[in-house]
Amino acid sequence: MPTIVHEKAGFFHLCNDQISYIMMVLPDGEIGQIYFGERLHDRESFSWLLELAHRDMAPCVFDEEAGDGRVCWGSTTYSREHIRQEYPTFGTGDMRQPALEIEREGGNTLSHFCYKGFLVQEGKPRIPSLPATYVEQPDEAQTLILKLEDPLDGTKLDLYYSIYRDMPVITRHVRIRNQSGKSMVVKRAMSLNLDLPDSQYDMIDLAGASLRERYVDRHPLHLGIQSIGSMRGHSSHQFNPFLALTRPNTDEQNGEAIGISLVYSGNFLAQVEVDTMGVSRVMIGIHPQGFSWALGMGEEDSVFCTPEAVLTYSHHGLDGMSRTFHQLFRTRLARGYWRDRERPIIVNNWEATYMNFDEKKVLEIAEQAKNLGVEMFVLDDGWFGHRDDATSSLGDWYSDIRKLPDGIQGLSEKIEARGMKFGLWIEPEMVSPDSDLFRAHPEWVLGAENRPLCLGRHQLVLDLSKPVVVNYLFETLEKLIESSRISYIKWDMNRSISQAWSRGQGAVSQGKVLHRQILGIYELYERLTTRFPLILFESCASGGGRFDPGMLYYAPQAWTSDDTDAAERVKIQYGTSLVYPLSCISNHVSAVPNHQTHRITSMFTRGTVAAFGAFGYELDITQLKIEEKEQMKAQVAFIKRWRGFIQKGCMHRLVSPFEGNDAAWMVVSANQKQALVFAFRFQQPVNAGFRRMRLQGLDTDTRYIVKEANQTDWSWKAMEKEPGFHYGDELMKIGLLLSDAASGVLSSTVPQGDWQARVFLVEES
Ligand code: DGJ
Repeated sequence: MPTIVHEKAGFFHLCNDQISYIMMVLPDGEIGQIYFGERLHDRESFSWLLELAHRDMAPCVFDEEAGDGRVCWGSTTYSREHIRQEYPTFGTGDMRQPALEIEREGGNTLSHFCYKGFLVQEGKPRIPSLPATYVEQPDEAQTLILKLEDPLDGTKLDLYYSIYRDMPVITRHVRIRNQSGKSMVVKRAMSLNLDLPDSQYDMIDLAGASLRERYVDRHPLHLGIQSIGSMRGHSSHQFNPFLALTRPNTDEQNGEAIGISLVYSGNFLAQVEVDTMGVSRVMIGIHPQGFSWALGMGEEDSVFCTPEAVLTYSHHGLDGMSRTFHQLFRTRLARGYWRDRERPIIVNNWEATYMNFDEKKVLEIAEQAKNLGVEMFVLDDGWFGHRDDATSSLGDWYSDIRKLPDGIQGLSEKIEARGMKFGLWIEPEMVSPDSDLFRAHPEWVLGAENRPLCLGRHQLVLDLSKPVVVNYLFETLEKLIESSRISYIKWDMNRSISQAWSRGQGAVSQGKVLHRQILGIYELYERLTTRFPLILFESCASGGGRFDPGMLYYAPQAWTSDDTDAAERVKIQYGTSLVYPLSCISNHVSAVPNHQTHRITSMFTRGTVAAFGAFGYELDITQLKIEEKEQMKAQVAFIKRWRGFIQKGCMHRLVSPFEGNDAAWMVVSANQKQALVFAFRFQQPVNAGFRRMRLQGLDTDTRYIVKEANQTDWSWKAMEKEPGFHYGDELMKIGLLLSDAASGVLSSTVPQGDWQARVFLVEES
């Protein structure tokens, strides 16, 4: 039973075989946090963990439970500043950052929520209008709802906790209901707060910028607040809505790791506040900057629901944490027809032609790609309005017949007639000032009438907080898709929101605009994916600017980065894999010299890096040499053989590209009989010492044969020093030999030069 309630003693123990999460009703009626971590025995009461002490200057505004059941006033020990709380509010003696702040009429921002009761439900309820993890069977999870109320005016606060039966995962969100009979404004409502008893942790987050998204950033916690977040209107290239707390000695395989992720695509704040008593307060939720949600008194507008936060626990290091996120996000966040299906190999024309193409050119690319085994052609930006560069036409979603005389309809039919599927790029949330749509509806953009509009990539953001805009976009895209043969949509978003102002809305609505914008995007996604359930959606935001769990609920894969250079991608994909499963990491082989770094890498290296995710090409195939086409054909065959395995297998990171000259990871089948190992070397060393690399996830007693992929035709060849077979324990405790057999001018069978990838097959013998 995952939810144990000791009603009389006031303890709630969420547990499964792996984790325990314990809370208590505090003497003042608020909820206290007792424990989160590895599974514990249950007991009636954990009250010995509520430690109180007299501390000078500590505000003690609440009653104290005297121990003998009596409540006495004037306590000098019961200070909420020194009690670990579940969902702290401001103005009650806790001087740290609150999870919740509500402003009542007259400007009062003090709240005090007291426990009123609880509910336990099988399964996991949906969160209205928001993406969230789900269950397929009610017995996969159980949900505890703690019901709190502010005695001042009856405002309700429901804390939702769902624990998965078979995963070390607890999801949380919060619902606030105004029952005061007066209006009020929610100024801050975090999805999760977790007060941990000490601060001996490292914080890990994924940080970067456009073209270098989600690099691993790790640093010890320090006193005070450390935070990451986004105030750009989307989850952002700069920080991902995720953080982990690990013990200082936690590595990939060992040690504690607490993972926290927010299922949301807009502004977010993730922070840890270490107080001077050594307690760590962790929280994640919508960024309070620019957010204020007025609650009315009607049935619908009186309620606010936060997005869902996902909390994971691992005592098997980061590897354990990532495996949990991968399993949860791949099977219980991503949805729909494509969730478990092998993804098509695509060729996208963006880096091949940019916006300079015509039908003849794209048909040539498609035809040649088809001959090499590619399954889908995707037409990127530049097919609509009169878009020859980024300065025009967003919003005008009709074909440019200068480029495509028979329109998207004709092109998609011609592509299908050639035996390929057709995919199309759109950027529905945007509008160009030079567009028919903007000329017809200048009031549909975000930004104030009395200030100059702020452009980004020459474009403006449509105001999706307005239902009329969402309806218009749905109807326009529905018509476009219905009239053509479209099997895939790349949904792009190429600028941040800098002017969150919705024209024609009253002052109190303006604080809702950024969140409503995201709700509008989710609604549009929901309607389109429901209307066209067989279409594969790929989310994109100038590369990986909205690579988050919220998007994953609608689009099972996401364009990882606009940096397609293989060496750069090793770092980006490695960092991304901390949270996101390979099934959603979309990668393309592009041309050399690479368009972002001007680096030249081999076809094998490019293909190998891209293989670990949803695979495709993004280059002008008509320009490839015959031998490159041969390699591409072999690559395509390799991907078709292994993509299902890679998509669903268990991924382990082996060597971090952020720590040295090498990188490696591997994918192991569920039955541990097969594994693919990827190893990458950035710079060619000279006269290097012997090298070994330890593998993970194999069965210690199984005998395995190891083979290496041939760099030209991807066939498997025997390893140079193959002793016949290896036991799994040898491969995991000693490792694979990766040494160069010679240095300098002498030949070596190990690929030489910079940016070299190798792939190994480990198979039960
Ligand atoms: C940004 C995307 O990340 C690219 O792949 C491409 O689709 C361009 N936008 C097109 O404008």
